[in-house]
Amino acid sequence: MCGIVGYIGNKKAYPILIKGLSRLEYRGYDSAGVALLNKDKLTIYKKQGKVQDLVNFIGDFTTDGHVGIGHTRWATHGLPNDINAHPHSAGKGKIALVHNGIIENYAILKEELVKRGHKFYSETDTEVLVHLIEDIKEKSGVSLQEAVRIALNEVIGAYAIVVTSTEEPDKLICAKKSSPLVIGLGEDEYYIASDATPIVEYTKNVVYLEDEQIAIIDKNHGLKIVSISNQEVNPYIQELEMQLETLEKGGYEYFMLKEIYEQPQAIHDSFRGRLNAKEGWIKLGGIANYIEQIANADRIIIIACGTSWHAGLVAEYYFEDLARIPVEVEYASEFRYRNPIIRKGDVVIAISQSGETADTLAALKMAKEKGAILLGIVNVVGSTISRITDAGSYTHAGPEIGVASTKAFTTQVTLLAMMAMMIGKKRGTIKEAKFQRLLDEMEALPSKIEKLLESDDYIKEISKEYKDCTNALFLGRGSAFPIALEGALKLKEISYIHAEGYPAAEMKHGPIALIDENMPVFVIATKGDNYEKVVSNIQEVKARKGKVIAIITKGDTVVKEIADHTIHIPDTDEVLVPILATIPLQLLSYHIAVMRGCNVDQPRNLAKSVTVE
Ligand code: G6P
Repeated sequence: MCGIVGYIGNKKAYPILIKGLSRLEYRGYDSAGVALLNKDKLTIYKKQGKVQDLVNFIGDFTTDGHVGIGHTRWATHGLPNDINAHPHSAGKGKIALVHNGIIENYAILKEELVKRGHKFYSETDTEVLVHLIEDIKEKSGVSLQEAVRIALNEVIGAYAIVVTSTEEPDKLICAKKSSPLVIGLGEDEYYIASDATPIVEYTKNVVYLEDEQIAIIDKNHGLKIVSISNQEVNPYIQELEMQLETLEKGGYEYFMLKEIYEQPQAIHDSFRGRLNAKEGWIKLGGIANYIEQIANADRIIIIACGTSWHAGLVAEYYFEDLARIPVEVEYASEFRYRNPIIRKGDVVIAISQSGETADTLAALKMAKEKGAILLGIVNVVGSTISRITDAGSYTHAGPEIGVASTKAFTTQVTLLAMMAMMIGKKRGTIKEAKFQRLLDEMEALPSKIEKLLESDDYIKEISKEYKDCTNALFLGRGSAFPIALEGALKLKEISYIHAEGYPAAEMKHGPIALIDENMPVFVIATKGDNYEKVVSNIQEVKARKGKVIAIITKGDTVVKEIADHTIHIPDTDEVLVPILATIPLQLLSYHIAVMRGCNVDQPRNLAKSVTVE
């Protein structure tokens, strides 16, 4: 987590840095800061709180300078206060640095540096790194770039850094390992950021720095990249496809609401050119070369975190049902530390919106070492996971800025359904009629979601009744069970109401004890194989005076009779119900959170891109 930015060129750096930090705020928002280099002077401003708090604090203070670095923080080492905020500096303000990641051996390094007379003010690992760089520079009389390189050879951990110094005012030095860093190339100017969103409005030409690479950006001599072992590397310049409008709220109160409403388009984009119901085919070009291996795999292991893990759980139903391949779905953070059995030829699918989640990345690297085939289902184009996997497909949801994942999830599920259908077809495990019906239903999804979104006002009305609850239960069976988990996660992360997702039948093994007249129970009770059983579960809740809010199939009168509230979704094949059933739960959480006065785009303690373990 944490977002970092940098600018060097002929424009005033400060507004560029602030705008960039606002774009990166999804990565962390407990404090923010900038360092501005003007002539031979470095001025650092930093403040606890959001980027706007920093701007208010700076007010009319001087913000001149054409070189600068900035940071928005998600605290790891030390409280989120002014002192621990970045940038950190050393050498009496000669060098300043911003950092995203964790320096794991900071304590040993700090001890050494303290012995050599260095004074530390913050509790951060980052301050140790900037002192180490300064110490090496002073001791060895080397350039800033060389001091950074030597220092990085001494640190263990993850970093994306940007360094500036009054002694070399025409340069910015950046480096990365495990945390992302992108460099935008303008006309005699350079933009640096944790992702491309702060860069896209200035230039479309970018270089994604690779692990253990150091970029030396010289205003007069351009960009040079060397490896941490000092081998020069040719920069690979890529063109950004991102559109600026996708980064703005476009009239919505929150990004989350905008992103919920973008789902018809996002889902359409996720299958556009990859599926044709009329001609009866699905083609996922990104995995075309691996179809044989996937179809012949003994098993598929899915690794992910958070909401993406829920998409993995839905995919377990898809691959087992449609392609008849055994699937295991793992939390990346557990998988990587469990010494799991991975056989050569196992297919490992990583699901990740950001493509940067530290645990997912580490789990992938481990699986690679053991000979697995790695596939990625990723949203952010060019992200690390998309680059280290053997093959994969982008979800094409477009930038998702609200911390709570919405359109990224439904497009992940859409793509995984397509993948399972394609493999099922190849293996002959899916009947032709079912395949065709799913193709038709898939193509109809965007318009069905449009229809569903028309219930938003009604969902808002229902939300009013539950905004003050302290607990909530979400129930579902079969592939709707992961949707119950996702519904509970959405509610707890943005409204801070304690919520649990449960398989509906498991309710009687524990959660039923919680049910009373104050407990809202959100149940996915759509038509399908488990329908009657779910209806019985609803009866059990009602018998204990619980409040039932049921997601039902349009036209269902049975559940309507028993439940306190029903929200209907358009009829579709059972396989695609998870996608439609998610949307009313997103809206319920959203409205409840807004009514409770929560900042739904930036919930407390969370960050969108979790680049630390
Ligand atoms: C964080 C985000 C979640 C996301 C999870 C996994 O917790 O707040 O929305 O689902 O990370 O992130 P990824 O980018 O790998 O999907």
